[in-house]
Amino acid sequence: MNKILDRSELAAMVKAGMVHAKAHTIAKAPGVLKLPAKNYYDPAVFDAEMTRVFRRLPLLLAVTAEMPAPGDFKTLEAAGVPVLLTRDQDGEVRAFVNSCSHRGTAVAAEPKGNARRFVCPYHGWTFSAKGDLVGIASADDFGAIDKSCYGLVALRVTERAGLIWGILDPASTLSFDTFLAGYDKLLEHFGFQDWHFFSSRVVAGPNWKIAYDGYLDFYHLPVLHKNTFGEGMSNQANYYAWGPHQRVQAPTRDLEVFETTPEAEWPVEAMLNGVWTIFPHVSIASFDGGGRSVMISRLLPGETVGESFTTQIYLMEKAPNEAQAKEAHDQFEFLKFVVEQEDYATGLRQQAALKNGGRDHVLFGENEGGAQRFHQWVEKLIQTDDDKLEALFAVG
Ligand code: FES
Repeated sequence: MNKILDRSELAAMVKAGMVHAKAHTIAKAPGVLKLPAKNYYDPAVFDAEMTRVFRRLPLLLAVTAEMPAPGDFKTLEAAGVPVLLTRDQDGEVRAFVNSCSHRGTAVAAEPKGNARRFVCPYHGWTFSAKGDLVGIASADDFGAIDKSCYGLVALRVTERAGLIWGILDPASTLSFDTFLAGYDKLLEHFGFQDWHFFSSRVVAGPNWKIAYDGYLDFYHLPVLHKNTFGEGMSNQANYYAWGPHQRVQAPTRDLEVFETTPEAEWPVEAMLNGVWTIFPHVSIASFDGGGRSVMISRLLPGETVGESFTTQIYLMEKAPNEAQAKEAHDQFEFLKFVVEQEDYATGLRQQAALKNGGRDHVLFGENEGGAQRFHQWVEKLIQTDDDKLEALFAVG
């Protein structure tokens, strides 16, 4: 893809970051936020989050590199909803509730594959990749129904910047454009639609917000991760927001290249440094294990308030050779260790202590503006009825 992308927004962030780096400052939030501790363990809060956040907002369901070819499909469970994603023969991505219109079982059980048709494993009804019911087993014996009324339940879906979002509640009318607030245009600079899918896996963790706080927080890096990668790292971050989506960027990195090169030649990779989060549940962090790479972490709540599951997806800019694949594998294993043994192990202890320790609130400092904004958005969404949702995002 050779589309020319507007780099001015990225360049403006570089310049803002340089000002802060030189002054040894960060852009701080206006005050310290007190967050009720029960937001992390109360089942009623969790139920509201499922309904008002995860079911009616676009979620990242897949990346293009996982299912690039016509016929590719993927299944997953997201916030309790079984989902089937397909790429039809025209190349268009579609999303459905993975539930047969006969008596409801999943029409596709494999996690991924390639198929023109989906034959339900229970009684053999057949569906196309566009979700149409195309065959009823022993149709004469079954009796007359209007097949056109019994396709799979379609979910709204969009594919942008090499990422695939879908909305789990078929009744949600929120526009993808309003939700993304132009953030997808920034993410296009990565060019993920042409990247190589290296590997993915799932890591179990604590309450989804306890887990997600860590992705918005550089404050903990030199402390919690001192024995792995954090020693000597800055604990400062600047946050840039598009609606609820935020880029997290340390103010002290990669300055030299910008000071010694004309702006028009600034390398886009350096301009994309830091962590790009996608509300409410995704983080994209850059690495160089085996060549330019990212780990996309997609969090989904578990069945109860105290559990979450993070799918870690390792994408590489180019397909690796054998040596690069070994490096990528080692990098990916290291990241699993850090997330599981440092971030989520700490989060699980945090969760147990909050639930049982009698503390009524927790604090987010002026230097933790990213997490402040995240929790404020979750709260606003819980308070906002469906008919006001579009307006909430439009205001930003
Ligand atoms: Fe699918 Fe019967 S449940 S064919």
